[in-house]
Amino acid sequence: MTTALFSPFTIKNVTLKNRIVMSPMCMYSCDQEDGMVNDWHIVHYTSRAIGQAGLIMTEATPVTRQGQISPQDLAIWSDDHIPGLKRLTDAIKVHGAKTAVQLGHAGRKAIYDDETIAPSAVGFDEKSKIPKEMTEAEIKETIYGFKTAAERAKKAGFDIIELHAAHGYLISQFLSPLSNKRTDEYGGNRENRFRFLKETIEQVKTVWEGPLFVRISADEYHQDGNSMDDITAFSKRMSELGVDLIDCSTGGIVRTPIEVYPGYQIRHAETIKKEANIATGAVGLITTGLQAEEILQNKRADLIFIGRAFLRDPYWPRTAANELGVELEPPRQYIRSW
Ligand code: FNR
Repeated sequence: MTTALFSPFTIKNVTLKNRIVMSPMCMYSCDQEDGMVNDWHIVHYTSRAIGQAGLIMTEATPVTRQGQISPQDLAIWSDDHIPGLKRLTDAIKVHGAKTAVQLGHAGRKAIYDDETIAPSAVGFDEKSKIPKEMTEAEIKETIYGFKTAAERAKKAGFDIIELHAAHGYLISQFLSPLSNKRTDEYGGNRENRFRFLKETIEQVKTVWEGPLFVRISADEYHQDGNSMDDITAFSKRMSELGVDLIDCSTGGIVRTPIEVYPGYQIRHAETIKKEANIATGAVGLITTGLQAEEILQNKRADLIFIGRAFLRDPYWPRTAANELGVELEPPRQYIRSW
């Protein structure tokens, strides 16, 4: 039986064997505060590759020490991180999955002991530390951090890079009028708020020829936040700049309850795919093979990102295949040849 979920997907030089992506998820599992890959990461990510994900994406991986969400995040701010990350991509690839790294910087949501930096000196909520408004030099340095991280990602053998521009972290803080109150060319109107992301994409692309994804928050759940019109305009600009796929998440820019239900973010992936003419990824409470198949067959998105369902079931693709009546090859280790 042919299904959309188990059909290959090619972007640039990379072909995923199916449409299933392990969504980026912080594991808070580095031993020291050094961001090094350890046995946990090898087991955790590689089991989902054995479980037949088409693409395994790392958790948000900070490009500078100042960008850590937690002290136990995987990191890519130094060349010392490359060997561990290479060990990880090698282990995953043995099982036929492709690899992606999610490059991030937490901005005002960083754990950093000293000063946190952000587009403006506005805290996330009343309890949060007030960040320092970034100087132009700090903006350039941080963008350079994304570029050097992309070079390291290449050396570590990743197939795809995703920029984390969602959930109220640094890039998202620049995009949103709720957190970006700057009066220079990095703040104010839509194009100015987009400038940090634009320059990051441009700099990354000087060293990275492979597929480039960007995760965005397509809904900020606030009347003064970016509208769908803004988000569509950003997505069109990203398409022009050569971004290959928009991974459509929501929220995180302000503290507010979010009403969730099965597929609660899919409509954003659908709108952006249609309006901005760019491939999209759908994510958020997609838990069954049938649900994923519906999204793909109706051309509402191109890839399906699976988060918590993949934590509960490392073999989620097999579970989905059973549901859809698709027979997958077993891992070669499970085939008795004697
Ligand atoms: C996440 N999520 C997330 N998103 C992201 O872009 N970078 C990250 O590092 C993390 N970290 C993270 C940790 C944990 C424990 C969870 C549960 C989630 C969000 C995740 O990728 C996904 O978008 C959401 O979980 C919604 O999808 P599911 O879980 O409903 O399939």
